Amino acid sequence: MITILAIESSCDETAASVCKDKIILSNVISSQKIHEKYGGVVPELASRAHLQAIVPVVEQALKIAKVALEEIDAFAFTQSPGLIGALLVGAEFTKSLALAFNRPLIAVHHMQAHVLANLIQSGNTDSKIPSFPFLCLTVSGGHTQIVLCESPLNQKVIGQTLDDAAGEAFDKSAKILGFPYPGGPLIDKYAKEGYPHKYQFPKPKIDDLNFSFSGLKTAFLYFIRDEKMKNENFVEENLSDICASIQSRIVSILLDKLKKAANETGIKELCIAGGVSANSGLRAAFEKMGKEEGWNTYIPKFEYCTDNAAMIAITAYYKYLNSEFENLSVVPSARTA
Ligand code: KG4
Ligand code: ZN
Repeated sequence: MITILAIESSCDETAASVCKDKIILSNVISSQKIHEKYGGVVPELASRAHLQAIVPVVEQALKIAKVALEEIDAFAFTQSPGLIGALLVGAEFTKSLALAFNRPLIAVHHMQAHVLANLIQSGNTDSKIPSFPFLCLTVSGGHTQIVLCESPLNQKVIGQTLDDAAGEAFDKSAKILGFPYPGGPLIDKYAKEGYPHKYQFPKPKIDDLNFSFSGLKTAFLYFIRDEKMKNENFVEENLSDICASIQSRIVSILLDKLKKAANETGIKELCIAGGVSANSGLRAAFEKMGKEEGWNTYIPKFEYCTDNAAMIAITAYYKYLNSEFENLSVVPSARTA
């Protein structure tokens, strides 16, 4: 069995995980609260917070897994994409461990890892995971992609956003409503009580498998501004319906394209991944569409949807099997390499 310690530090979560082959033994996440009041992640503050959190987070991940550092066969980290200062903290920390214990070093692509969160087996080896090839709708704060996954390390992006990511559409709408950052989960919470067809928001007209959310954001901004001019309490009085309506539009934009991708490729193994796949409206609508279309649908466990190191660990496991190792001169990259 191969034991891997993986570290994720690409944005505002400091995370560490230990896996033995495909079984996750620990998944520790420390979320940085400091950004809430700024309406978005402040890169410099994120780097500092990673520096403060990384030692206790790694210690806890080892403790929960009941594994000592000497027993680790390889050390893995998120190499790209992300905030460069944040990535550097995880990269340099992991390199030091690989050097000190003389073990292989594995660099992981964050978006590839989000997709492979679907391959994590929870506790037992016969939990349901997708077979290849599968399609994955990866929706996070920085990305929105449809990925054709032929094998764990053979992933092809066949559609992506031309402007904002789905998570940004949630977070920017939330900001317009006065919610703190990240507001996606709060829209989800209020949407549960609301009527999704109360307000109609526009759908972008894009023919291929790509997405666009910037028009929706502008339409939402003007809609709220106009309604508030008529009634200054409009948002407070209609919060649930507003949240349900904007959420339902974002979800329908995403799923219409996923359905198109499934029809064009003929693939019936369908997954979702990334922070926005924690959204209860998306999860329910994805499963409903899956039943109607005859797909096998897969959604990672909640804790493996938003940023985490378990997904980095599982990806590193496949890279280990392929002997994809780095030397100590490897550097992180802010953009998708
Ligand atoms: O994957 P992730 O944790 O970080 C990135 O790689 O970006 O995704 C974060 C995004 C944020 O935009 C956040 O608002 C969104 O995921 N998110 C949600 C929910 N939970 C997280 N959006 C809608 N509903 C949720 N329940
Ligand atoms: Zn992410």
